[in-house]
Amino acid sequence: MLKLSLVTGLLSLFGQLSEASYTTTSNHSENQSTNVAQDSSAFRPGQVWKDESGEVINAHGGGLLFRNKTYYWYGEVRGEKESKGVNVYSSKDLYKWKHEGLALATVSDSTSDIVRGCIIERPKVIYNKKTGKYVMWFHLELKGKGYEAARAAVAVSDKPTGPFVYQKSFRPNGHMSRDMALFVDKDGGAYHIYSARENYDLRIVRLKDDFLNPTTQDTLLFSNHREAPALFRKDDNYYLITSGCTGWAPNEASLHVSKSLFGPWEKLEDPMTGPKAKLTFGGQSTYVLPVQGKKDAFIFMADIWNPKNLKDSRYVWLPIQFKENKTIIEWKDKWDLSVFR
Ligand code: GAL
Repeated sequence: MLKLSLVTGLLSLFGQLSEASYTTTSNHSENQSTNVAQDSSAFRPGQVWKDESGEVINAHGGGLLFRNKTYYWYGEVRGEKESKGVNVYSSKDLYKWKHEGLALATVSDSTSDIVRGCIIERPKVIYNKKTGKYVMWFHLELKGKGYEAARAAVAVSDKPTGPFVYQKSFRPNGHMSRDMALFVDKDGGAYHIYSARENYDLRIVRLKDDFLNPTTQDTLLFSNHREAPALFRKDDNYYLITSGCTGWAPNEASLHVSKSLFGPWEKLEDPMTGPKAKLTFGGQSTYVLPVQGKKDAFIFMADIWNPKNLKDSRYVWLPIQFKENKTIIEWKDKWDLSVFR
């Protein structure tokens, strides 16, 4: 009996030790895992980030919108077994965030595309000046079908905080649509950038003036198995950051540049530098934010996914630097907006 409990004790100790070593070698590296980003005037990439009420921010695979002097952060609500929908937070300064609630919620109606049990990923919201509507696009997977449906879905609201009213889901011009981004150009035209053909193709489609529908101006950007697109414009150049396709596991990012959204796109050097740069610092791109009121100021946003507990996935926000014709995204443990001019 004594012998047995000694063996059990040793086994449980071994279990705890191997779990501890998993924690420090998993996606969250040591300096990223324990501290909480309490500082309300700095960004601490990879650390736990809480909202103004002290709750951990739950807005993964997200994107931002700037309207009426306010930033809105939309992202996947993770943690429950099933997708709960899209969270929205608001902020005036990008450091402190107020939870505004669920912008879009899954429903109990079993005839709806967004019935509980569906998967909602990578929500992005843009504002349509002509219609005065806030338009959300996201990647939708239908309940019980894994990742097979591969659809883009659209929801609309009169207010940035929602509630967004679900409209429809479809495959743009018949193409599968998984990881996605939205982009509004200077002339007001809006675009949907999406991973198609089992993620082998990255495509772009111009949206109709209402932003609710794709046009047929739909082009292949490249066919090298990329996803997690994040597109931004600096002067006359469009930049596109993407990841490889390794599920929740991090991989090397790539950066492309073009004079036209429809290409040709030229591949540049991997912009990431610093620890784990070749793995995008353990993260995967989701959005690039143009900072308001500052010139050439862009923030690269990524998710460090924790597939064992998606709610505990961390956010990486880093400034994009443009030095001697090079685009650089350098790891920083802590930084603030004074890095921009
Ligand atoms: C990733 C994708 C995520 C999510 C995940 C599921 O490749 O970027 O948004 O879909 O796969 O495994």
